[in-house]
Amino acid sequence: MKPDIAVIARVGAHQAFEDMGLKSLGTEVYQTPYGLSRPIHFFRTEGVDFAVMSRHGESGYDLSAPFVNSRANIYALKALGVAKVLAWVAPGSLREELAPGDLVVPHDLLDEGRGGPHTFFAGVGWGFIRHNPLFCPELKAAMMTALAGVPFTVHGQGVYVATTGPRLETAAEIRKFRLLGGDLVGQTLAPEVFLARELELCYAALTYVVNYAEGLMGRPYQPGVLFEGLATPEEVSKVAEVEAAFPEIILRILPAMAATHRHCPCPRLMERYRLRGDIGEDWQTWVR
Ligand code: HPA
Repeated sequence: MKPDIAVIARVGAHQAFEDMGLKSLGTEVYQTPYGLSRPIHFFRTEGVDFAVMSRHGESGYDLSAPFVNSRANIYALKALGVAKVLAWVAPGSLREELAPGDLVVPHDLLDEGRGGPHTFFAGVGWGFIRHNPLFCPELKAAMMTALAGVPFTVHGQGVYVATTGPRLETAAEIRKFRLLGGDLVGQTLAPEVFLARELELCYAALTYVVNYAEGLMGRPYQPGVLFEGLATPEEVSKVAEVEAAFPEIILRILPAMAATHRHCPCPRLMERYRLRGDIGEDWQTWVR
């Protein structure tokens, strides 16, 4: 199968689609110059083919965010012929009005992380790529239209602050991120979105808030429970509702994603280097 669309999600995403009755049309793991990709699972719904990849593990949370091999994953999707990527991610909230269980389609990002491979273009003279708009405007618009009517609060913008992890932030860091204009904090979207742009993929993110970030609500430390007390049981159950709705939400969005025409900047982010003769048509010769 050569799907145009991929969904990169959290743990066991393919299982969620199978559980709702979609038939698996196969699985592939790619050997890339950066190592093995995560398994890629293939599905079809209402004439739309799509691939599903889980960043952190097939059935359990096996790999924390800083160790996700985003270069291998994005390379593999590009090699498969994918042009449009939907990233499903679960950040914390930096704002009272973005509550656990809410959906947020971020429009921008602050990269506050450190280290880690963040480019395909090591040691060459290309890659000075504009990052505004960061997320594909066509995919974002398609997603917002498709989300009308979901039984969750949907926010059409937000600045995602990317941290390294796996640790959570100090309260002072969260105060700083709020001052910087951040709305969400998470460990997933960088460098994934940057790498997707280097390979000229359309990429947009759909996030669902899983907790208020450290210090925001003054919650006491509780050893041994999820997020050590950062989230209340009510918030945890709100989040569980949106997690359970993951496959239905994605199935709503897929036809809208399939209908975008890629008149956005994404397919030509490297055009200058192409015109300059630095790179050829075969993207596999660009990467290092
Ligand atoms: N901080 C960083 N990453 C996260 C958080 C958080 O509060 N919640 C979910 N991912």
